[in-house]
Amino acid sequence: MELKIPKHIAIIMDGNGRWAKNKGKIRLEGHRAGAVNLERILEESIKLGVKYLTVYAFSTENWKRPEMEVKGLMELFSGFLSSKKKTLKKQGIKLLVTGSKEGVSDSLLKKIEETEKYLENEEKLIFNIAFNYGGRKEITDAINKILADEKREPGKPITEEEVAKYMYRPDIPDPELVIRTSGEFRISNFLLWEIAYSEFYVTDVYWPDFDEEEYNKAILSFNRRDRRYGGLNAE
Ligand code: IPE
Ligand code: IPE
Ligand code: MG
Repeated sequence: MELKIPKHIAIIMDGNGRWAKNKGKIRLEGHRAGAVNLERILEESIKLGVKYLTVYAFSTENWKRPEMEVKGLMELFSGFLSSKKKTLKKQGIKLLVTGSKEGVSDSLLKKIEETEKYLENEEKLIFNIAFNYGGRKEITDAINKILADEKREPGKPITEEEVAKYMYRPDIPDPELVIRTSGEFRISNFLLWEIAYSEFYVTDVYWPDFDEEEYNKAILSFNRRDRRYGGLNAE
């Protein structure tokens, strides 16, 4: 049987810190290795024909980490955007950065905007980086947008389809598959609205070690799932 490739895969890139610790390195080295790994997974996503790849890079809760680590993560992200934009363009990758602007420096916001603009016409793969992202924040922001929308009749009941349109990326279809590395069985405030019927795959492998083979294992597992959406399967 031919392998079904999910159109949209979302990844919680977890375990960088433990990867580094196991190797006697500082946590930031783990984050660097994680960024390098992302290139490998992007390449493989194109090869497989994945259309949308969302990765969780920084959550609204990650600000709680020591200042040094937060600073390192911001610099790493900024460096990633500068050093990779040409390669991304060559690969035909369109970049979207999704999340809240709150707390993010003006210089980084500017760089994000410029990089998105530079890659806006690419269409082989839509690469969506969830950065300063929180699922509850996204839903809260959506509610506030609904309340502030002057085109809506006040008090008019809202439908699910309409709510979906107020999310950060209404044009991206919901992910069929969510992968979490490093063995944690939790969602950590990732895409709460969008994952209602996503298949969940957890591997013990730390993100920097999550290679093409591990990625393909996740897709193979997805292919064995029986997706019922609350209904029953035909016998
Ligand atoms: C994921 O790795 C990257 C971010 C959350 C930014 P972690 O830094 O959470 O690594 P562990 O979970 O401590 O091993
Ligand atoms: C989730 O990982 C966030 C990212 C991968 C960016 P965390 O390491 O922050 O999640 P918890 O703390 O284990 O739930
Ligand atoms: Mg973690």
